[in-house]
Amino acid sequence: MIRFKTLGQFIIEKQAEFPYAKGELSRLLRDIGIAAKVVNREVNKAGLADILGDHGTCNIQGEEQKKLDVFADEQFIDALSQGGECCVVASEEHDEYIKIKTPVSANAKYIVCIDPLDGSSNIDVNVSVGTIFSIYRRNNLDNPVSITDILQKGVNQVAAGYIVYGSSTMMVYTTGRGVNGFTLDPTIGEFCLSHPKMRINEPGLMYSINEGNYVHFPQGVKNYIKYCQEEDRATQRPYSSRYIGSMVADIHRNLLKGGIFLYPATAAYPSGKLRLMYECNPLAFIIEQAGGKASNGHVRILDIQPQSLHQRTPVFIGNKAMVDQVEKMMVEAAIAYGV
Ligand code: AHG
Ligand code: MN
Ligand code: MN
Repeated sequence: MIRFKTLGQFIIEKQAEFPYAKGELSRLLRDIGIAAKVVNREVNKAGLADILGDHGTCNIQGEEQKKLDVFADEQFIDALSQGGECCVVASEEHDEYIKIKTPVSANAKYIVCIDPLDGSSNIDVNVSVGTIFSIYRRNNLDNPVSITDILQKGVNQVAAGYIVYGSSTMMVYTTGRGVNGFTLDPTIGEFCLSHPKMRINEPGLMYSINEGNYVHFPQGVKNYIKYCQEEDRATQRPYSSRYIGSMVADIHRNLLKGGIFLYPATAAYPSGKLRLMYECNPLAFIIEQAGGKASNGHVRILDIQPQSLHQRTPVFIGNKAMVDQVEKMMVEAAIAYGV
């Protein structure tokens, strides 16, 4: 008897809960799942296939693109173009958003924002990388699609998810009714439901931040790091420090184990490093759906009105109590030091 449930079976089962659903979102999620399997295959054989290393071009943020960034980007855009449910893809790897012009996509209603390969500087050293995606509905099907259809607040996301290509490969996603995780079984080539109804582990006892940037952190963040390191039996401090440098993998670990991920403003990135549309909004949606919280230090990530596609933001994301604490300390520091 087959005891597992595949991603495809799960999506169809969930669709049946919405009597008026036409199956477009289901097909879109399925397409993303298929592209993820192809990317997984290439990530896994990266050392073999002469595909490691720099591609020789830079993305809009001036960062070096790796070959696998480009490959992953192409795979997801191809899958979304062929599927017919998506009218626009906004990718971290492209300056402008891409209108899908395939005949099947003529009146498609979904917009996908994607970080095709997150943590790409970790590929060369065999450390987990991932894909992050976010799905919005077009504002109005009667009007041609425009930038305002894409620059929607994160709270409008209809679905979001990530794939982590790690010691095993997982896809985790939400459509706003909780979070479910699927592990790729390489022997049958299917994502199988392994983590149903995911909730962020409580209490959170880990903090994840690039402490090398410490001297440039806002005072409230410095105070919070000291707080994490203090001894206090009642709150089980000091907390453990864990930082991979792939946001998707850091957040995935914190979701399973409990913890906070912080990327504040720094000297190199005065508005924060991570991108609102491709990284922070989708992961904020997932973490909120799992019972956690995501903030820029003052405002809920999902309530930020994006002004541009590649906008960056400081981000504090994880267990609610931990994010509340860092927000409180940022307010206190602002009052005490005027920063
Ligand atoms: P990407 O590979 O998509 O450009 O993202 C890299 C990001 C993110 O994954 C990670 O959390 C962060 O950069 C790490 O930055 P630092 O090296 O500054 O810690
Ligand atoms: Mn990224
Ligand atoms: Mn990337």
